Amino acid sequence: MSIISTDISKAIELLNNEELVAIPTETVYGLAGNIYSEKAIKLIFNTKKRPSFNPLIVHIASKDRLSDIVTHIPEKAKLLADAFWPGPITLVLPKQKSIPNIITSNKSTVAVRVPNHPKTLELLKQLDFPLAAPSANPFSNISPTKPEHVENYFRNDIKLVLDGGPCTSGIESTIIGFENDEPIIYRLGSIPIEEIETIVGKIKVKNKKEVSPDAPGMLERHYAPKTATVLTDNVIETLKQNKNKRIGLITFCTQTENIQVTSEFVLSVNCDMNEAASKLYDALHYMDNKNLDIIIAEQFPNHGLGKSINDRLLRATKR
Ligand code: TXA
Ligand code: MG
Repeated sequence: MSIISTDISKAIELLNNEELVAIPTETVYGLAGNIYSEKAIKLIFNTKKRPSFNPLIVHIASKDRLSDIVTHIPEKAKLLADAFWPGPITLVLPKQKSIPNIITSNKSTVAVRVPNHPKTLELLKQLDFPLAAPSANPFSNISPTKPEHVENYFRNDIKLVLDGGPCTSGIESTIIGFENDEPIIYRLGSIPIEEIETIVGKIKVKNKKEVSPDAPGMLERHYAPKTATVLTDNVIETLKQNKNKRIGLITFCTQTENIQVTSEFVLSVNCDMNEAASKLYDALHYMDNKNLDIIIAEQFPNHGLGKSINDRLLRATKR
């Protein structure tokens, strides 16, 4: 029997009972639990096989609740919340004592956002507590952007995937921390840097492994299919180098129709980066189930959302 359902009251019942529910957001599906339930939070880490040093994002119903979660809100954090919430930006700020250490992996800061999905906003409004929700995939696997992706991963572990349809943004939120009240990007994501800079001015990016103490989730291998994956700026050349293999090809907007290719996925025939981002993980899930020898992914133009897409594709290539 399917665990996918649109029944919000069932989700409320399970969450009130310290159980987990997969919830839709605009970015990816999350594996959600009550932030104040140690039982639920431990279940999140166990179900995902996530290392305990990797902290969770707290999801709140509206920006008015931010001061319940954090002790200090820099001016530029306010500007970002006003500009982008509900939406795919996560702010990392000093945590209130009431936020359990297990959520933040003993860090003094907490990551928080207001997701932009009508079902999950409705759910959060009806609950008496915020939800911790990492992406609903086993640690380091491809994130889920459709309810079926979650069901395939966790049908034996959870009772409900709240159905909110396919995610419209399709890559995770942009994570922003603060040093001396100045914003710094810890994870590239659904909101392009250029858009963030229109609100707060020039912003530094520390999206690499060396900031792992600040953003421990930024591990090199992440979002990764089981199938070997390469990222290339020269599709034709890379096809030549992989003769006689079963190849899956993911391109931005050009159909290649090369006879060498077993399976091809064009992310946006109109060369629209938003559309491409929304389909990226679905393409990876699709290819990973095709019993291929290799997935070849075409590099994106390195601006706007293209930067975030390239970041995810690069991590998908690591072994
Ligand atoms: O779009 C998203 O952000 C999705 C949806 C479900 O909201 N969630 C998501 O969660 O991507 P997760 O757990 O897969 O990634 C959370 C990231 C991790 O890289 C973690 O290291 C970082 O947030 N993080 C959490 N708390 C942090 C903190 N206090 N300081 C720095 N990074 C933090
Ligand atoms: Mg994740």
